[in-house]
Amino acid sequence: MWFTIAVLGQWIFATYVILFYGKATAIGHSENWNKVLPHGYISGETIGNFVVGSHLLLAIIIIIGGPLQIISKVKEYAPNFHRWNGRIYIFSAFILSISGLYMVWVRGSIGGMIQHIGISINAILIMIAAGFTIKYAMDRKFKNHRIWAIRLFLVVNGVWFFRVGLYFWLFINQKPVGFDPKTFEGPFLYFLTFSQYIIPLSLLELYLISQKSSNKKLVLTTSTLLVIFTIIMTIGIFAASMGNWIPKMRE
Ligand code: HEM
Repeated sequence: MWFTIAVLGQWIFATYVILFYGKATAIGHSENWNKVLPHGYISGETIGNFVVGSHLLLAIIIIIGGPLQIISKVKEYAPNFHRWNGRIYIFSAFILSISGLYMVWVRGSIGGMIQHIGISINAILIMIAAGFTIKYAMDRKFKNHRIWAIRLFLVVNGVWFFRVGLYFWLFINQKPVGFDPKTFEGPFLYFLTFSQYIIPLSLLELYLISQKSSNKKLVLTTSTLLVIFTIIMTIGIFAASMGNWIPKMRE
């Protein structure tokens, strides 16, 4: 249930990136990126604009390609697709992390130092998980490969969890609470920046332990936590889609 809802939500996000940024670029109005990104398109800054553009393009590839890598049936029926999509995924993960770090530390981004450190740790985790995923595939240690691939999938989606978490928070409070919407700083956002990968990774470890455990209490606790986070995620996807992604697709 968690996976199906997550994939649906990620593909709505990918559709938004294609229709909003893709359309702006295709019609030659890259300056429209700046309706969302404060440091998106800067006239004359060829390298910086290229980095942002490639970040957006690879974001589409990685969000669509990720779930197809995780589904076992796809791997069974189309092993060649799995290999090629996997290579593209790992390559995209590295480039997205490096371009993201460039955008945070060189080009400048919204939020403060704590958020910049938080998302930079996310970038490092993506590169570590991508490294182990490819290493275990090459060593033909497929059990480890699968676990690291799921970890990679979760950390790559950290930025998506951030958006879903933020919109869930706005939905239940009906206004910005715990942060300043003008500076995009505040305790809630500091918490969310680190939670975007710590919570999914911790839940995965708990899930992996519970899968092997005969302790009924542990299995029940893990299932309950997963159901709670799936409900939070569903509300967040709904709020982000209605409040941001779908309206932006129409612009
Ligand atoms: C690997 C998965 C990632 C995906 C799929 C992704 C996707 C995106 C998308 C779609 C945007 C446009 C913003 C929007 O319309 O919501 C964006 C912007 C941005 N991303 Fe990423 N991103 C990823 C990783 C990262 C990482 C690891 C970093 C930092 C180290 C990063 C830093 C940024 C920055 C700084 C912006 C621009 C925000 C601004 O203008 O202030 N991204 N990303």
